[in-house]
Amino acid sequence: MYYSKITGLGYYVPENIVTNHDLEKYMDTSDAWIRERSGIEQRRFFKEGEDTVATMGAKASSIALERAGISPEEVDMIVFATLSPDYNFPGSGVLLQRLLPFREIAALDIRTQCTGFIYGLSIADQFIRTGMYRNVLVVGSEVQSNIFEKSTRGRDFAVLFGDGAGAVVVQRTEDPEHRILSTHLHSEGKYAEDLMLEHPGSRLQDRLWPTMVEEGKHLPVMRGSAVFKHALQRFPEAIMESLETNNYTLADLDLLIPHQANLRISKGVQEKLGLRDDQVYNNIQRYGNTTAATIPIALAELWEADRLKEDQLICLAAFGSGFTWASALIRW
Ligand code: COA
Repeated sequence: MYYSKITGLGYYVPENIVTNHDLEKYMDTSDAWIRERSGIEQRRFFKEGEDTVATMGAKASSIALERAGISPEEVDMIVFATLSPDYNFPGSGVLLQRLLPFREIAALDIRTQCTGFIYGLSIADQFIRTGMYRNVLVVGSEVQSNIFEKSTRGRDFAVLFGDGAGAVVVQRTEDPEHRILSTHLHSEGKYAEDLMLEHPGSRLQDRLWPTMVEEGKHLPVMRGSAVFKHALQRFPEAIMESLETNNYTLADLDLLIPHQANLRISKGVQEKLGLRDDQVYNNIQRYGNTTAATIPIALAELWEADRLKEDQLICLAAFGSGFTWASALIRW
């Protein structure tokens, strides 16, 4: 029997730190409002010419590969999760493929936004369990600071989202104990329009029109309260599904790493499940919501802090645009 295991973790965030006070210069907001509603204190914004989604993914991947002790030539597949690809097409997986000395391997982009990393991990797990691949690289990378507008009109997104990348190497193991135990993936497309970036899209005859920017049609839209409400329901469901499937209870859980959407959501989930502070990891204070990158960044930070210990039971859980939600349970 083949199983899969995370063997290397890395992350990269742009150097450019943007505080809440920096945002006050561009829009009607305040440090106090942002901290109180989201817990965010600062985030990173990319600099054109220095970083792209693909190059940030490559930087995080190089670190993850080195820590896994394998070379790019040994990787069998790239799974790249992003909502902010360098190009509309081709995807970011192939752009990463050419940045490091990979072979001519499979490169798959996935588009489930905040759950992208867990969906990617699940794909890696399936390909490894069937015996098709030994080594899969799963990457989450986002440049979101140029999607929203740094203005009062764009503040719904501007205060919450940031840029960054994380990557993990998933490898075949025959150890039945220390491995990815299960993944669970869900969606409910009837809420697609509650968190979306519609234009430019293919629904209209003209993808672009002269007054588009003036009308703000190029900006993402979010029904914040709907996202909040559904997140508070779906996070606990996904976490419990992962535990119950493996015959565990919340008392067995060493660490929950929730997608970093909003500190109030994480705290709400923690409270609902009765988890202690030391059982839940949050870093949104420093990076904002980096969408597909939040969970691999958090995992890599925990690894660097020597907080991932053998035998720990770790749950990853995410909720976001789609709506999609997902979880993964890992025995480290
Ligand atoms: N800065 C300052 N004030 C703001 C603001 C901002 N960025 N955005 C909204 N406000 C104001 C509003 O105008 C409103 O003012 P009013 O009371 O005078 O009318 C007030 O703050 C409250 O706005 P509201 O939208 O009701 O805030 P909220 O408490 O619902 O918080 C979110 C908004 C977006 C922080 C919250 O809904 C949320 O976190 N949702 C989930 C978002 C998320 O996680 N998205 C990613 C999913 S993966």
